[in-house]
Amino acid sequence: MTGSTQIPYLLRAARGEVLDRPPVWMMRQAGRYMKVYRDLREKYPSFRERSENPELAIEISMQPFRAFQPDGVILFSDILTPLPGMGIPFDIIESKGPIIDPPIRSLEQIEKVHPLDPAESLPFIREILQTLRQEVGDKATVLGFVGAPWTLAAYAIEGKSSKDYTIIKSMAFSEPAMLHQLLGKIADSIAVYVRYQIDCGAQVVQMFDSWAGQLSPQDYETFAMPYQQRVVQQVKATHPDTPMILYINGSAGLLERMAQSGVDIVSVDWTVDIAEARQRLGSNVGVQGNIDPCVLFGSQDFIRERILDTIRKAGNRGHILNLGHGILPGTPEENAAFFFETAKQADKLLAVHA
Ligand code: CP3
Repeated sequence: MTGSTQIPYLLRAARGEVLDRPPVWMMRQAGRYMKVYRDLREKYPSFRERSENPELAIEISMQPFRAFQPDGVILFSDILTPLPGMGIPFDIIESKGPIIDPPIRSLEQIEKVHPLDPAESLPFIREILQTLRQEVGDKATVLGFVGAPWTLAAYAIEGKSSKDYTIIKSMAFSEPAMLHQLLGKIADSIAVYVRYQIDCGAQVVQMFDSWAGQLSPQDYETFAMPYQQRVVQQVKATHPDTPMILYINGSAGLLERMAQSGVDIVSVDWTVDIAEARQRLGSNVGVQGNIDPCVLFGSQDFIRERILDTIRKAGNRGHILNLGHGILPGTPEENAAFFFETAKQADKLLAVHA
């Protein structure tokens, strides 16, 4: 190698360095709010094709990078992508969301769930991540991601997105041993999948336990946290230097417990003040977030104020600026552009406003 390579901002923040501005990316930064994505979706209506054909997935992952130069480029995929490789097929239907048919409801079905062999069932992930690394070089950090066992089990058992999670909770409260068997199998396969993503080029991996915020703290400690820990421990045993991020939607009541998962960074939503989140998380854990995605429907002055306020509250160490959940369809693209521009000039803007 010749020339000097620079460590990208997001990795430096993940390592806890003091920085002049936080790195910035957005959950769901590739997707429907972008016209180039909607145009491509018309040509390729199948979500699985868009995410499993390497050429398409690379193109979609790069769309926000070309438009906005975020500090993180996340691979275009879904948390459900590894499930077929474990014997659980799925599809994503426009305006309905994910469908798993038949849903997993019996011990017999759980026994048939098999370990993931990612090189065999997810060869496209290698091509996508390797190419993204080549394309972005040291200009950005490539993020991988996975679903956490509770959230993946919720989709597998409910068969689709759910409001109340009555089916998986019924299983948790009446047949806990059966659910634990499924959660354990998913955890071991997801750990293998995270390692595979890292080996293919992911420099940071975010684990989404999106629906763990639906659990009471005691049930969280029984059905979600131990399996997050099982994934993190297995990954850290072989890949101790790759930072991991944990995201839960509606996590304000769970922050201290999230820090016990073993991840390096906790991603928080907007229902918690980020300065309070830092206090509750302690100084050993970084923080990501936490702007309400609806702020991007406001005026640019308002967006700027919220960005600077969040950065001031989060401090200059171990903070990755992000939304508190995915960017929403319908968000004006120029406001997304303004969000990234403002975040990348935050050092200068904060000096002026100080
Ligand atoms: O961040 C990125 O740019 C990467 C893309 C990404 C997708 N899904 C693509 C996608 C990521 C990180 C995910 C993760 C994911 N998928 C989560 C965790 C994040 C969260 O929101 O809490 C969850 C719960 C899923 C399951 C899932 N996939 C749902 C609920 C839906 C439907 C959502 C909707 O609003 O319709 C999907 C489909 C999906 N995954 C879309 C995208 C861009 C929309 C479908 C489309 O574009 O045709």
